Amino acid sequence: MQAYTYISKGKFELVEKPKPVLMHERDAIVKVTLASICSSDLHIKHGSVPRAVPEITVGHEMVGIVEEVGSAVTHVKPGDRVTVNVETFCGECFFCKNGYVNNCTDENGGWALGCRIDGGQAEYVRVPFADQGLNKIPDGVTDRQALFVGDVLATGYWAARISEITEEDTVLIIGAGPTGICTLLCVMLKKPKRIIVCEKDENRVRFIKEHYPDVYTVLPEECLEYVQKNSDHGGADVVLEVAGASFTFRLAWECARPNAIVTVVALYDEAQTLPLPDMYGKNLTFKTGGVDGCDCEETLRLIAEGKIDTEPLITHTYPLSRIEDAYELFENKKDGVIKVAVEC
Ligand SMILES: NC(=O)c1ccc[n+]([C@@H]2O[C@H](COP(=O)([O-])OP(=O)(O)OC[C@H]3O[C@@H](n4cnc5c(N)ncnc54)[C@H](O)[C@@H]3O)[C@@H](O)[C@H]2O)c1
Ligand SMILES: [Zn+2]
Ligand SMILES: [Zn+2]
Repeated sequence: MQAYTYISKGKFELVEKPKPVLMHERDAIVKVTLASICSSDLHIKHGSVPRAVPEITVGHEMVGIVEEVGSAVTHVKPGDRVTVNVETFCGECFFCKNGYVNNCTDENGGWALGCRIDGGQAEYVRVPFADQGLNKIPDGVTDRQALFVGDVLATGYWAARISEITEEDTVLIIGAGPTGICTLLCVMLKKPKRIIVCEKDENRVRFIKEHYPDVYTVLPEECLEYVQKNSDHGGADVVLEVAGASFTFRLAWECARPNAIVTVVALYDEAQTLPLPDMYGKNLTFKTGGVDGCDCEETLRLIAEGKIDTEPLITHTYPLSRIEDAYELFENKKDGVIKVAVEC
């Protein structure tokens, strides 16, 4: 089969590999129908994910059809259309039982697919802990509608969930990339009083204005003043930082009102400083971390009910044979791209 593979720093290549086989009784083999590219794939390409193993097939955001299951798999069966979760988790350890699946203590726990073990920018993928990592796509939900359930949408859902948003709140989201937009969609479900999106890229600002006309948008330079003016208590009640640029961490807590919650979804290339003397008396609560992607059944239900629609994020579609072109477009943010779908 064809598999897009991490060769060495800076180099991915479509290569011929044997079809994966079951290695454990809790595994499943999935025939990938649609995959996507995530900013984390680019981090691997650029060598900034030290855990990533050369020769592995990349890709951790996909949907497909179950081909084969191990003897201990009970939740899915061959022929089921499924989403694949970015995280593999055992479902049994202390962290899994508490919903902190990102910190699953199994050796395959956390983000393994397309990083430490073969992923899904390929015709087939082996998924460990299939009962945890696969969710059946409801009839009436298409593959394109379900494509982001296991990764960027899971992140947006988790971020909105931990941010304790109420209907009285003014919520600021910094960054309107794919993850920021998924966060926005999930924040909208909480019906806060106001949502402000801060984004510097004019194509993405336009995308927000076109698709979500009730959402306020602001440029980073004007963000602090705008948020102070357009909130009830001198700043945002909840801030979600989903940009990860060099000064957006500082912008996030500066825009927060006293006693606000600041959720840091972004990953940074460099260490950030927490200047406690400057924020003394603001009594902020920071929440950080990697997504706990264990609400996929719930997000699939919300998609089926028409309450979440991530399909507009798919701005471009390519066949697997042209995945190189898809990367080129996505990496260089050409042609107003938000997400690409790769038909495998
Ligand atoms: N915590 C997790 O588990 C998790 C999961 C997925 C993604 N992430 C992180 O979330 C972040 C966003 O991911 P993405 O895939 O949407 O990436 P992205 O790079 O497409 O999105 C970042 C967006 O922020 C905007 N931006 C940059 N500087 C800005 C500024 N100063 N002010 C306002 N906007 C600015 C960019 O124009 C871009 O649209 C990344 O840091 C990514 O690593 C974290
Ligand atoms: Zn990802
Ligand atoms: Zn576990």
